[in-house]
Amino acid sequence: MVYIAVMGHGVVGSGVMEVLTTHVDSIRQRAKEEIRVKHILDLREFPELPYANLFTKNFEDILNDDEVRIVVEVMGGLNPAYDYVKRCLLAGKSVVTSNKELVATKGAELLKIAQEKNLNFLFEASVGGGIPIIRPISQCLAANDVTEIAGILNGTTNFILTKMIRDQMEFSDALKLAQENGYAERNPSADIDGLDVCRKICILASLTYGKHVYPDSVHTEGISGITMADVEYADAWGGVIKLIGRVKKLENGKIRILVAPMVIDRSSQIAGVDDVFNGILVRGDATGDVVFYGKGAGKLPTASAVVADVIDCVKHFAARKYLFWSDADPDYVDDYKNDETAVLVHVSAADPTLALQQVRDVFGEIRLLARKNEAPGEFAFATGVMTEHKIDEKLDALRKQEIVVYNCLRISDF
Ligand code: HSE
Repeated sequence: MVYIAVMGHGVVGSGVMEVLTTHVDSIRQRAKEEIRVKHILDLREFPELPYANLFTKNFEDILNDDEVRIVVEVMGGLNPAYDYVKRCLLAGKSVVTSNKELVATKGAELLKIAQEKNLNFLFEASVGGGIPIIRPISQCLAANDVTEIAGILNGTTNFILTKMIRDQMEFSDALKLAQENGYAERNPSADIDGLDVCRKICILASLTYGKHVYPDSVHTEGISGITMADVEYADAWGGVIKLIGRVKKLENGKIRILVAPMVIDRSSQIAGVDDVFNGILVRGDATGDVVFYGKGAGKLPTASAVVADVIDCVKHFAARKYLFWSDADPDYVDDYKNDETAVLVHVSAADPTLALQQVRDVFGEIRLLARKNEAPGEFAFATGVMTEHKIDEKLDALRKQEIVVYNCLRISDF
């Protein structure tokens, strides 16, 4: 018998209890041990639940219980999760977490403690919900040099963009629906402003390249500036808009990393990833492109990944799983503006014929795009590939000629 504790009984925590109680036999078979929850930490009370007797409001009940060998942290946020997880590891307990913020900001430190204590600190559920991605990158693709990872990593924003594209649904209605389905973060600005994607791409970059990438070193843009006009111009270009987290390995050993909405060619494997689904493309030198697809958020998909980690912990009490990264040099993350991309630019001017000539003078060859019901003077164009520094200079030159730039979206090359 292995005793575990669960910290947090929200969407994911209640899902963990559901998976553990509905799959008792298969879990026992796979772990070769019975796994029993001894404590659940939550400040709320759940008297109606059949396991109401397991709840405690006191973290010390878990920390000081030597029978508890694995602690599941599904509270989310940094405080008090960071303190609790660190103290559990220092007390000799393995930890499984779905907490992206914790892993993205404190991963190097917690992995070091786990290594020193010969324990496991596992976090499969922190990226991609129910999609296996941490293990595949650290184990199955370990023989590759991964040159790039690009993915749709947030279910809420993908759900919102899909509803806008397919059903012309208002942004706020789509967000409400995502919240009702349990996809959105407690503070949905973490989804909409790209922070959640940022944390996830930081975890994947840290894991893949072995050096910690901190979220505040990543240029991050969200989707709140995306309008139906952008959606329609992207459609005219032959693509869809998706919020993408992307990291590339450079030849000098540094990385370039970015979170931003991008126009994705309809023929890309990522373009068809809709609703709450996530899609993650991993480019390996031996494998070529490998794409992982599945439900990136929600109670049971995420709980499934958490419970799988618990099973793995039980099977590896004696032999630590090798998941590790260390701190990086301060200049490890290269300026994202050195990256080269094409862009789709949405503009307006009092004299569109003159403005189009000015655009051609500044950007050279462009592809002009039109949509139904354009306002007078409004148009969009797609540029060739150039560095982001150059794009900024050219957009400034247009602004000086009284052209209003509404939006500028990167066009992906995957
Ligand atoms: N809010 C997150 C999402 C939850 O929508 O993807 C899963 O990490």
